[in-house]
Amino acid sequence: MSACQACLQLIAAPARYHDACLKRLFGTATAPLIDVEIAQLHTLGLAMAGHTSISGIQRKISLGLSADRATLKLEIDKGRYILKPTGENFPSLPENEITTMQLAALAGIDIPPCALVPLKDGTPAYLVARFDRLPDGKKLRQEDFCQLGELLPAAKYDGSAELCARLVRKFASEPLIEMTKLFRRMVFCWLTGNGDMHLKNFSLLAGVDGLQRLSPAYDMLCTRLVIAGDQLALPVGGKKDNLRRRNWLDYAAYCKLPERAATRVLRELRDVLPECIALVERSPLPDSMKATYNDLLNARMPGLTE
Ligand SMILES: Nc1ncnc2c1ncn2[C@@H]1O[C@H](COP(=O)(O)OP(=O)(O)OP(=O)(O)O)[C@@H](O)[C@H]1O
Ligand SMILES: [Mg+2]
Ligand SMILES: [Zn+2]
Repeated sequence: MSACQACLQLIAAPARYHDACLKRLFGTATAPLIDVEIAQLHTLGLAMAGHTSISGIQRKISLGLSADRATLKLEIDKGRYILKPTGENFPSLPENEITTMQLAALAGIDIPPCALVPLKDGTPAYLVARFDRLPDGKKLRQEDFCQLGELLPAAKYDGSAELCARLVRKFASEPLIEMTKLFRRMVFCWLTGNGDMHLKNFSLLAGVDGLQRLSPAYDMLCTRLVIAGDQLALPVGGKKDNLRRRNWLDYAAYCKLPERAATRVLRELRDVLPECIALVERSPLPDSMKATYNDLLNARMPGLTE
């Protein structure tokens, strides 16, 4: 048995993906050829501008599926997919992202269809379906927390978990539901050593029904695998490290979540620890990173209920 390169659950070798996982991502049970090479991406120079930590190091491009669904090609305007190939400075980011996104799914967080895919030259890349496009090509309105907070993109680290909560309270159509989701994501980012969850990595998405909800999660990474001791990007109660159950309950109170709802989220996150450890073991990360990741999960998750 090996792991499906989309959901990271078990699959009988030599299959690379479950049929259902391919269908969810591509609408067909055959994986398309990805007509992109890493060298081509570097010359395209589509690097994201950014200044701190991981930002801007990862390049990402927009891809679209050909009509016969056999090939994924560059499609700058209307692409339905985002591809994030390996960067030059930090190792194994695509493997890191698929692993962290699937851990998020285990943790009860809504994620878009995503997978690890091989480029034409064989290098791995992270592929995710856009959640802001409808089948007819229409775009849903998505606003990140920098925009909602009327901050410049460069100020994406100048926020806090409390600012995120205030934005959800002000702009989400059903604040209690969205606040509970936000709380779960904040705790998850701490558990997975994510030092890059800044204000542009949270968004509200307007659904076809016009309701404003948190978008599915994106850009989830364990930055501690590549930056030792990396702390949270946004402070929680003024703290970016050493968060304990007490701090999370205080944050939940700030969010005006009923304590029962908050303790339920913490217990649910604690309870998926064994599944998370097993998923990291099956992941495509190098062994040394698997060990670091699981040490982190084992160190942080039990504290949620103690
Ligand atoms: N699946 C998706 N569907 C629609 N929009 C998305 C999706 N994933 C990401 N985005 C949008 O694209 C932007 C960039 O994506 P992402 O954050 O993954 O890239 P990045 O280069 O790692 O960003 P950062 O600057 O945070 O390092 C996001 O801020 C978000 O607005
Ligand atoms: Mg981002
Ligand atoms: Zn699968």
